[in-house]
Amino acid sequence: MRKIIAGNWKMNGKLENLLEIKKISNEFARSKIEIIICPPFTLLSAASELAKNVYIGAQNLHPENEGAFTGEISANMLVDLGITHSIIGHSERRNKHNETNEIVARKVKISLEKKLQTIICIGETELQRKENSTLEILEQQLLDSLANNTNFEKLIVAYEPIWAIGTGLIPEVSEISKIHDFIRVRLVELYGSNASNIPLLYGGSVNGSNAPEIFNVNNVNGALVGGASLSFEKFAPIIRAIENTSP
Ligand code: PGA
Repeated sequence: MRKIIAGNWKMNGKLENLLEIKKISNEFARSKIEIIICPPFTLLSAASELAKNVYIGAQNLHPENEGAFTGEISANMLVDLGITHSIIGHSERRNKHNETNEIVARKVKISLEKKLQTIICIGETELQRKENSTLEILEQQLLDSLANNTNFEKLIVAYEPIWAIGTGLIPEVSEISKIHDFIRVRLVELYGSNASNIPLLYGGSVNGSNAPEIFNVNNVNGALVGGASLSFEKFAPIIRAIENTSP
């Protein structure tokens, strides 16, 4: 199984921050971990030129290839730049930019069609967790967000409890384990045995201290990291933590 650490810079990063990508590239030049950094659109071109042994991904894309969509960026344009990965359906896109499962499904479809490694995010709110509906919500998000998609070769699923994002809170390790096992079983039931190779990432307040225990959980194949991906000093320990787990 692939091991993946993806950094989502969100709306952070200026030219000077490219230095962090350079440092990660130098430090992990020979690493076998699939390291992905997703800076804002403005840095994608420069980042992909300087990154070595680090993949550069986009945080979003438009479901159409081209046209009158002012301010939008398409999968075609990303591929043209040499971008290899995308993040689709992050909870901030779903909640702050009104992205429904239907929109997410269209984005996943075009992203996979353009052969981008596509990280689809799912996760429950704090209220849904309190109501014990986490598994139901995740299953529905999987079903609806992956609708009409048939080729999952380049799909990566990130479980990101919304209440854990940027809060410093994480679920108990036993909870992460139960949820990742559930996602694995449902993916295989829904899409067949090939889905057993879909990498499952955990995301939400991952840092250098909690990473080792998270990466020891069965069916956790990596992490999607927000805040701690912005600096080499915080991101590197997370990559080292997964390097140190058994194959
Ligand atoms: P965080 O963000 O690591 O800052 O909690 C994770 C994410 O939003 O993907």
